[in-house]
Amino acid sequence: MRKEQFICPYTLYENLDELEPRDAELMRLAHEATKNAYAPYSKFHVGAAVRLANGAIVTGNNIENAAYPSGLCAERVAMFAAMAQYPGVAFEALAVTAHSATKLIAEPVAPCGACRQVMVEVEQVSKQPLKVLCQGETGPVMVFDGIESLMPFIFLDKFL
Ligand code: THU
Repeated sequence: MRKEQFICPYTLYENLDELEPRDAELMRLAHEATKNAYAPYSKFHVGAAVRLANGAIVTGNNIENAAYPSGLCAERVAMFAAMAQYPGVAFEALAVTAHSATKLIAEPVAPCGACRQVMVEVEQVSKQPLKVLCQGETGPVMVFDGIESLMPFIFLDKFL
C-alpha cells in the first residue's frame, strides 16, 4: 500500500489585463452573458462563453425552472448551443463567471461536477486540451489548461 496524490495545476492571473487579449475578451463576454441569466430562484446569475477552433464564440447563461432539476447551468447551455450550432468544430476555451443579487463574488466560480463531465466529453471530441477560465464578478482568474486538472479520475467512454 502507498499513498499517492493527484496534482491539479492551474495558473492564477490577478485580473483580466494579465490574460492574452482573446481570453480576456472571452471572459468579458461571459460577464455580459450573466445579464441573460434566468435565475429567479437562486438569484445567482452565471455566464459562460465558449471559443471554437473556427473563431466562433457562443455564450450561455443558467436557466432555472420551478421544477428545480429541469434547469441547466450556464456552461452546459453554452457548450450544447455551440455543439448544436457548430457540429464537429473543436472547442478551444470556455470562460465562466457569476453575479449574485445578494453578495459580491470576488473569487473564481468553479463549474459544477455535471458541467465538468460534459467538458470531458467536449475535450475528447475536440482532440485538444480545453482551456477553462474561471472568475467571480471581480478578482483573480483561474486558468486550467485541460479538463483533467479540474476533473481528476475522469469517467471516459473507454470504460463502457
Ligand atoms: N450554476 C451554473 O450555471 N453553473 C455552475 O457551474 C454552478 C451552478 C447555476 C445553476 C443554478 O441556476 C444556480 O447556478 C445556483 O446553483
